[in-house]
Amino acid sequence: MSQKKVLVTGAGGFIGHHLVTELKKKGYWVRGVDWKYPEFQQSAADEFELLDLRRWDNCIQATRGVDEVYALAADMGGMGFISCHHSEILHNNSLINIHTLEAARIQNVERYFYTSSACIYPEYKQTDTNVTPLKESDAYPAMPQDAYGWEKLIAEHLCTHYREDYGMNTHIVRFHNIFGPNGTWIGGREKAPAALCRKIAVAKLTNDPVIDLWGDGEQTRSFCYIDDCVKGIYKLMQSDYHEPLNLGQDRMVSINQLADIIADIAGYPVEKVHILGPMGVRGRNSDNTLLRNVLQWEPEISLEDGLARTYSWIEGLVKERLASAPDKKQAIEELKTSKIFSAPCK
Ligand code: NAD
Ligand code: GDD
Repeated sequence: MSQKKVLVTGAGGFIGHHLVTELKKKGYWVRGVDWKYPEFQQSAADEFELLDLRRWDNCIQATRGVDEVYALAADMGGMGFISCHHSEILHNNSLINIHTLEAARIQNVERYFYTSSACIYPEYKQTDTNVTPLKESDAYPAMPQDAYGWEKLIAEHLCTHYREDYGMNTHIVRFHNIFGPNGTWIGGREKAPAALCRKIAVAKLTNDPVIDLWGDGEQTRSFCYIDDCVKGIYKLMQSDYHEPLNLGQDRMVSINQLADIIADIAGYPVEKVHILGPMGVRGRNSDNTLLRNVLQWEPEISLEDGLARTYSWIEGLVKERLASAPDKKQAIEELKTSKIFSAPCK
């Protein structure tokens, strides 16, 4: 059998980088494309091209000669980023997704994988901390909170229409807050697990008794470890299932509980100070009924295990940053604080 060739877009990012590593282990020939290289490790891809995928000609170049496309490139981040930057997100991601899918069609790509988000679910179903887990059919009537969710919904539809109109073998996943080593951990795009690991690590290393959290900390989420995410992506791509499918954990915790678990792992109890910040929806959890039925599998790595691996990676980065900072006071301030953009974003 000849070696399958795949393209991973967003291969310089968190999930894309891990996915490339896994696909190489499975014996694929892999082209990674992004407009930046992976930040922490060299890519395992056979070929890595730096391309701006908002541009049509670059999408044609990226998709040449491959059998399968995993489309992960997106302008994205945690609440600090997506609660603002609406124009940029809608504009950039629409161009990336419209062009990548059409280029894949023209190049006769056999299978196409699109990465959507739990952010597509309507805000009115996520107003309570004790939220009913979100099942795939809850998406409509649509009312996502942010432009990021609206754009993801349109791209989901585009994949569905390309399957119906052109017979393309498209697959659509809805991730629920994925975390782990090699993810964004500072700078404003990081999500809560990485942000809290960083804040607790710097508190521990500087003997600071407090950390701050956005909101009252009672808002709830579920968090899924990267190895499970990559496993789920591959299983779905191999399946005959073409409708959007949740991929996440269904254990819901509050942000206060998340901080307590990380503090336990760090062996450093902290006092939580609640400050104003972008909170997103009040509660969110994944209903994994369909995931279990379709894939005969669900994420297996516990929150504690995943956080222990992530905390240890982030504590190492915090140590390095503190050791090499020319201005230690400023470095501590940056590590303690999650950047909050004010609207309109500048
Ligand atoms: P990430 O930000 O680490 O990776 C996205 C990558 O896309 C980045 O490396 C970025 O440079 C690249 N990119 C952005 N604009 C580009 C452009 N114009 N041209 C080329 N590359 C470009 O994010 P991630 O966490 O790895 O997310 C991967 C995918 O999964 C994204 O589509 C994201 O929306 C989706 N998703 C992620 C989560 C999560 O919790 N991580 C949740 C829901 C959905
Ligand atoms: N990022 C971050 N940083 N969040 C914090 C912090 C902090 O320092 N302190 C408290 N939080 C709270 C936020 O206010 C929010 O209520 C909760 O932690 C979760 O925030 P995020 O992890 O940033 O995002 P999210 O879960 O609301 O959305 C993420 O997951 C979606 C998929 O489930 C984002 O990454 C989306 O882009 C993604 O689609």
